[in-house]
Amino acid sequence: MKIQMEIHNLKQTDAIARAFSNIVKPPMVILLRGDLGSGKTTFVKSLVKYLGSDDVVTSPTFTLLNTYNGKFPIYHFDMYRLSSMEEAMAVGFEEYFDKKHLDGVCLVEWAENVEGLINDVDYIVEIEKIGDNERKFNILEAKK
Ligand SMILES: Nc1ncnc2c1ncn2[C@@H]1O[C@H](COP(=O)(O)OP(=O)(O)OP(=O)(O)O)[C@@H](O)[C@H]1O
Ligand SMILES: [Mg+2]
Repeated sequence: MKIQMEIHNLKQTDAIARAFSNIVKPPMVILLRGDLGSGKTTFVKSLVKYLGSDDVVTSPTFTLLNTYNGKFPIYHFDMYRLSSMEEAMAVGFEEYFDKKHLDGVCLVEWAENVEGLINDVDYIVEIEKIGDNERKFNILEAKK
């Protein structure tokens, strides 16, 4: 599966999240890539809503992990403040990415900072900012 799309407003970001939500199920690991302010957390907000959760989605920049309850648990990570895989392991994150035990779905921002921690990725959502409200979305199935 591959979605490539240029969109022009928040409503369309929400629509992509709704379409994508149909293929999201446990145990899945999804990485969100894109510069600061590209819209990763904004996309997660919509996705969490369409995964049946009423929980308030906030950026886990400082908490590193937020858990939401939907049809299944949703683990929302932001690795921005981590600088190594060792640091992530020290906070006990590696067990979340073990597919044999994962009871929900992991959504990970800034996974680039913890290279080597996550081995089994299902999807990568790339967001590129091309204007104030315009974004280029590229959703791809990760190679196994
Ligand atoms: N079409 C769009 N899709 C997503 N976000 C948009 C769009 N248009 C404008 N925005 C705005 O861009 C900002 C994106 O911020 P957001 O926190 O989602 O980025 P982020 O990628 O999570 O950044 P960070 O790396 O700091 O976590 C928000 O203020 C959002 O309202
Ligand atoms: Mg964010």
